[in-house]
Amino acid sequence: MKMPQIFTRFFLDGFLLLLLQIHGSAAATLLENDKRALLDFAEKLPHMRTLNWNEQFPVCKNWTGVGCSEDGSRVISLRLPGVGFHGPITQNTLSRLSALQILSLRSNRISGSFPLDFGNLKNLSYLYLQYNNFKGPLPLDFSVWKNLTAANLSNNGFNSSIPYSIMHLNQLTSLDLANNSLSGEIPDFHLPNLQFLNLSYNNLNGTVPISLQRFPKSVFLGNNDSLMEYTVSSSPVVLAPRDENPKSKSTQKLSEKALLGIVISIIGILAFGILLFICCLKRKKEDGFPGKLEKGGMSPEKAISRSQDANNRLVFFEGCNYAFDLEDLLRASAEVLGKGTFGMAYKAILEDATTVVVKRLKDVSVAKKEFEQQMEVIGNIKHENVIELKAYYYSKDEKLMVYDYYSRGSVASMLHGKGGEHRTLDWETRLKIATGAARGIARIHAANGGKLVHGNVKSANIFLNPRQYGCVSDLGLSTITSALSPPIARAAGYRAPELTDTRKATQPSDIYSFGVLLLELLTGKSPVHTTNGDEIVHLVRWVHSVVREEWTAEVFDVELLRYPNIEEELVEMLQIAMACVVRMPDQRPKILEVLKMIENVRHRDSENRPSSDNSTPVPPSPGV
Ligand SMILES: *[C@@H]1O[C@H](CO)[C@@H](O)[C@H](O)[C@H]1NC(C)=O
Ligand SMILES: *[C@@H]1O[C@H](CO)[C@@H](O)[C@H](O)[C@H]1NC(C)=O
Ligand SMILES: *[C@@H]1O[C@H](CO)[C@@H](O)[C@H](O)[C@H]1NC(C)=O
Ligand SMILES: *[C@@H]1O[C@H](CO)[C@@H](O)[C@H](O)[C@H]1NC(C)=O
Ligand SMILES: *[C@@H]1O[C@H](CO)[C@@H](O)[C@H](O)[C@H]1NC(C)=O
Ligand SMILES: *[C@@H]1O[C@H](CO)[C@@H](O)[C@H](O)[C@H]1NC(C)=O
Ligand SMILES: *[C@@H]1O[C@H](CO)[C@@H](O)[C@H](O)[C@H]1NC(C)=O
Ligand SMILES: *[C@@H]1O[C@H](CO)[C@@H](O)[C@H](O)[C@H]1NC(C)=O
Ligand SMILES: *[C@@H]1O[C@H](CO)[C@@H](O)[C@H](O)[C@H]1NC(C)=O
Repeated sequence: MKMPQIFTRFFLDGFLLLLLQIHGSAAATLLENDKRALLDFAEKLPHMRTLNWNEQFPVCKNWTGVGCSEDGSRVISLRLPGVGFHGPITQNTLSRLSALQILSLRSNRISGSFPLDFGNLKNLSYLYLQYNNFKGPLPLDFSVWKNLTAANLSNNGFNSSIPYSIMHLNQLTSLDLANNSLSGEIPDFHLPNLQFLNLSYNNLNGTVPISLQRFPKSVFLGNNDSLMEYTVSSSPVVLAPRDENPKSKSTQKLSEKALLGIVISIIGILAFGILLFICCLKRKKEDGFPGKLEKGGMSPEKAISRSQDANNRLVFFEGCNYAFDLEDLLRASAEVLGKGTFGMAYKAILEDATTVVVKRLKDVSVAKKEFEQQMEVIGNIKHENVIELKAYYYSKDEKLMVYDYYSRGSVASMLHGKGGEHRTLDWETRLKIATGAARGIARIHAANGGKLVHGNVKSANIFLNPRQYGCVSDLGLSTITSALSPPIARAAGYRAPELTDTRKATQPSDIYSFGVLLLELLTGKSPVHTTNGDEIVHLVRWVHSVVREEWTAEVFDVELLRYPNIEEELVEMLQIAMACVVRMPDQRPKILEVLKMIENVRHRDSENRPSSDNSTPVPPSPGV
């Protein structure tokens, strides 16, 4: 900023402008400093791949691996895995990025000792230096990184003892120091938030401190035998494919080693920056088991094992702002969200704190080509009432789908959630859920030349979008998976009577399932539930029987009856639902007609009726 220029402006435009000028330029200066630091860093550290760090282009917009704060004033993340860096990091380069929160330089060949000036990165929360050639001691004072949440320094040559200062890191949830040359005894950390630990393959001796004995023995493997003497009856870690107990809901480690081949190919997808913040919808996609996932006290257990085929990679859809690769995904800490019709769903938190839902498909019965075609059809549906498929993966052993995460859970969990999770939904909200879901299904039925079938409409697959309208997920999978065994399919209670083979789902059978969903919203009851006398009640049949007697309020959720003046609307919606669940498929209305009818339900102006906390317990549903 040149002084004469300021003064000219001052006299011309007044004091206010001067203030603006100074303020704006201060932010610009900070970013400029960050930019310089990055250029210095890259210039002094040789790398095999060229970085597109062109001074002409905006740092925050399109420099590979660089991410900025929301206001674009500072660089807060730098992710440069597998760029082929070699040699030591020059002092006073990266350490000038004082606002940095995420630093990933994993899978390079950076040598030298740990850059002590990283101590200036006071906001550092995620540090990934694994798979490099760092040597020498770990920094003595870890307490400078008060916000450190995850550190992975594994697979280097660090050879000091483990610093005691680590015990001041209250935020630390994940610490991986495996496969270094660390020696001495393990300090007693007392880190209550620590969920993942790996100290294996070092030269540690002594005994495992009590606070760490909650971790399985395998995290201390490959050290002095003295460590292995403590007794903990925990199950062995890693790799127990396919037999997860969905109810345990423990944090799982989707670990994978053989994936380094992939790392090399990811440079192209690093242009992510602030986009992660924008990435539209962030809610829990929960499939099946409603209820909150417990935090804390979880030990990493089984993980996805798979044999890696280097030709296969994560395929992203256009416009997807995520930047991660399969390795990130498999390494992410993951919680089981539930067991759905087509496989397990996990919530995966990536190293940069992005949260996604990973669905692991089982029983895919089609070849790669056909699978990909179907993914393309699904992935190209962009609609505010359809949950977007972000990416997929296909290999012989593993088929994955990646979606946004919806933190509020499914409509099933809202309607039938257990315990403290129980929430009452007012009529307003239920109407919006029905409207949104109908719009989403209408979009789906219009796709692929009007031939696409959802195939799995149920409340566990409906979420709320940011406008609180229903939003549909899990579509288009019935045709690419093998037929489900009848008991499962029947238990779900959404299946149209004419459907004997789940693969043969049709648009009319979707309408039937949607009708069941409407009944669920109206009655607050699960499609299949048991009464006190252990009698199994099929919702459609039950509604029929009640309605046959006379149109009675008995059918409706007692929650809804507390709101005045909605009976007419309830009855109208009930009629729509009944039209959807008629026996003969060709007598069911088309989705566009259904949508129109639902939109007509609300004649009058809606006063917003508050929902109440005074909830009546509703029988929990298995939700599968
Ligand atoms: C970077 O941004 C400029 C304009 O802002 C654009 O012309 C250029 O194509 C972008 N480069 C990359 C690699 O995205
Ligand atoms: C660290 O982050 C906080 C917000 O999380 C911010 O207010 C603060 O300015 C940051 N510090 C630096 C040095 O950027
Ligand atoms: C750490 O994080 C908190 C909140 O996330 C923030 O307020 C603080 O500025 C951050 N930085 C430091 C150095 O504590
Ligand atoms: C660690 O390695 C360095 C050489 O890289 C050596 O000088 C030092 O003595 C080693 N320290 C320990 C504790 O083994
Ligand atoms: C640390 O990195 C290694 C190698 O990439 C990986 O296997 C391990 O899972 C990572 N640990 C954590 C906690 O992410
Ligand atoms: C440990 O790291 C070395 C290279 O530093 C690697 O060759 C070896 O496979 C790693 N061992 C384990 C158990 O990961
Ligand atoms: C710990 O690290 C070692 C060496 O990298 C690895 O072989 C082992 O699988 C890791 N254990 C866990 C639980 O991640
Ligand atoms: C552990 O090893 C260090 C040297 O690496 C040694 O000084 C210390 O006495 C050992 N402790 C025990 C309990 O063996
Ligand atoms: C393990 O520790 C014991 C006792 O500290 C020591 O005698 C022994 O030599 C160590 N073994 C190895 C392989 O370092």
